[in-house]
Amino acid sequence: MYSDFTFSIIKPNAVRTGKTGPILAMINEGGFEIAAMRMVKLTLPQAESFYAVHKGKSFFEGLIEFMTSGPVVVMILRHENAVDQFRKLIGATDPAKAEPGTIRKTFAVSVQMNAVHGSDSVENAIKEADFFFSGIERFY
Ligand code: RTP
Ligand code: MG
Repeated sequence: MYSDFTFSIIKPNAVRTGKTGPILAMINEGGFEIAAMRMVKLTLPQAESFYAVHKGKSFFEGLIEFMTSGPVVVMILRHENAVDQFRKLIGATDPAKAEPGTIRKTFAVSVQMNAVHGSDSVENAIKEADFFFSGIERFY
């Protein structure tokens, strides 16, 4: 079922500082199964296309520069009601507003460098997963 899946990225600041393992542990402990996973370094056009919805906003250029600054880990995650459950696990965009115990509260260093991405709707989760993964790379 589509609603059992979401898409996530471990962002460059977290990969660079060795937080990939601890973040994957929190994802697993949160009850999510990893259905697909790969490390990639986004090109400028890929990052611009992925974040096209934010084009024109004040933080867009900084966001693109940050997201292309180093490798990221892209994943499809499986859980009942995955999009909402994963947004709960990662916490608010601004780590200062994120609940204790969330991934962002634990690993974000700023609003921009907030450690992880999680899709904001089932529709976007499908689009984002299709952007990075072919059918043969997916489990479940
Ligand atoms: P994401 O898409 O990465 O999961 O984050 P989100 O839904 O919680 O937040 P969104 O509004 O979609 O923003 C995307 C990413 O842009 C950066 N950002 N910087 N400086 C700023 O004011 C600002 N606002 C957003 C963050 O990296 C955010 O995750
Ligand atoms: Mg978003």
